[in-house]
Amino acid sequence: MKFLMVCLGNICRSPLAEGVLDHKFDGKTGHEVDSAGMIDYHAGNPPDPRSIEVASRHGIDISGQRARRIRTDDFDEFDVILAMDQEVLRDLQAQAGSSGQRQKIHLFMDYAGFPAGGNVPDPYYGNAGHFKDVYRMIDEACARIVRNTGPSP
Ligand code: 4NP
Repeated sequence: MKFLMVCLGNICRSPLAEGVLDHKFDGKTGHEVDSAGMIDYHAGNPPDPRSIEVASRHGIDISGQRARRIRTDDFDEFDVILAMDQEVLRDLQAQAGSSGQRQKIHLFMDYAGFPAGGNVPDPYYGNAGHFKDVYRMIDEACARIVRNTGPSP
């Protein structure tokens, strides 16, 4: 299974989601994780230093990631496309080219089994506490996703 985590800038939330899910899948072979953003403003840049810091405190190194914008091909290449908030979800749905592609797109917190409508709030204009809260949400959601995902066929 190939998972794509998507947020707005691909420097705060989705790099964390990529790093945490990849870390938790370790040992469950056959799963791949990547991330992308809706805008290309930060394309080519490493994750936000505050995301790198909070991940590193949990033993996860995301510093090698580089931001990129979502591509048309992503809707074919990935099996599961997870939006960090409702706005990203709507924009992804609008960009999908077919109903098959649209079916791959879910709200991240919904997909993890949390009550409907949960956004991972954008921490870009926030402080370290916001990044800590975002990390905790992503960590709990990724733990559920790993529990609910069997080995790759
Ligand atoms: P992200 O956070 O979507 O979690 O990566 C943001 C990063 C940058 C911007 C917005 C959100 N920005 O407007 O540049």
